[in-house]
Amino acid sequence: MLWQIVVLLVLLWIYYGHHKNRRFIQFSKCFKNDYKTLPLIGHAYLFCGDGEVRMTAFQLLGRQALKHGGAAGAWFCRKFYVVITDPVDLDVVMKTSFEKATIMQFARNLIGNGSIFAPVPIWRPRRKVLAPTFSLKNLNKFMKIFNHQSRIMVDKLQKQVGAGPFSIWGYTSTFTMDAISETALGVKLNAQSHSDQPFLTAMDRCLYLITMRMVQPWLHFKFILSKLPLYKEFKTCKKIVYDFIDEIIVSKRKTMKGNINDESQEEQDDGRWKTLLELFIESSGGYTDVELREEILVILTAGTDTSAVGISFTLLMLSRHLDVQEKLYQECCNKGNYKALPTWADNGPVHRKRSQITDRNDQDNACGLK
Ligand code: HEM
Repeated sequence: MLWQIVVLLVLLWIYYGHHKNRRFIQFSKCFKNDYKTLPLIGHAYLFCGDGEVRMTAFQLLGRQALKHGGAAGAWFCRKFYVVITDPVDLDVVMKTSFEKATIMQFARNLIGNGSIFAPVPIWRPRRKVLAPTFSLKNLNKFMKIFNHQSRIMVDKLQKQVGAGPFSIWGYTSTFTMDAISETALGVKLNAQSHSDQPFLTAMDRCLYLITMRMVQPWLHFKFILSKLPLYKEFKTCKKIVYDFIDEIIVSKRKTMKGNINDESQEEQDDGRWKTLLELFIESSGGYTDVELREEILVILTAGTDTSAVGISFTLLMLSRHLDVQEKLYQECCNKGNYKALPTWADNGPVHRKRSQITDRNDQDNACGLK
């Protein structure tokens, strides 16, 4: 008898949802998708499997968008998503729609109200503080750190020379973590040499578990999630991450009040560089420690995997297009000494005015791709 009542309730719930959203469901049909929409789960079945399967699912949806004129629709249980590949459409959406979808908000379990995922009224004023800290003047001062960390990565890569295929990810992801933690927090993590530190492992697990939750609809329900071991693991890892960052914030505040004279303070007194954390403390006016932690977490999550994927992809492309690799190598050698450290001025093409890049060909030329 009980199961019959449950089935009836579920059917009523589906009917109610369908009826309530009938106009939206009609509208969603404007966005095509060749993959079958199954009752209740929609296209979520595409994401069943391991990480590889899930990445492939994103690719499949992207290809659907390309096939159907730049946009495709996908139902993830009762949520409807539009996958956009047309840059013009994307431009319009990104300039008019700032609030994040529910699925992205799972990141708030770690990042709180940090920029990117915060509700718009919180995000807007924080962005005003965040944007100037990324000025060219400030970034320029980080070149020394980028160079130093790049050199470590190159040295570590030496041992792979002639050793056959290998995964680049461990090299690039620890490099970006080192570069970002030093520029954002002023902390030398040495992830490239010691990738098994509690903070790094905990951060990695937190991001992994958040992503897992995003792509597995049954984990969207808190009452299911809270019964699983991964919930407990997430809470433990989150605490490790928070404790690590909080300690740095407290220490940095003290240092900035002039109570402690540490090594990084000497650097600033020389007027050479300040960490993003220090710039935040100076420019935010009255950020609390929690707000500072949130913004630092944003930088760590937004800046590490993204850049690592970019670098890895570039290196993969270079390994497949040896003529371009050779050209790049010659360019480095032509500078006199390929071991000479790059400077900001070496980013020539990036600084060309927009008007100077007349068309796509010219742009490719500027990047040395033609
Ligand atoms: C190739 C590397 C990168 C890519 C592809 C990338 C991509 C993006 C994208 C797509 C967004 C917008 C997200 C959204 O609003 O939904 C974003 C925002 C952001 N990124 Fe990056 N990013 C990269 C590197 C970095 C780095 C190195 C940092 C910092 C060290 C960084 C910090 C941020 C921050 C703070 C935001 C939030 C801005 C805001 O909400 O106002 N990103 N990034």
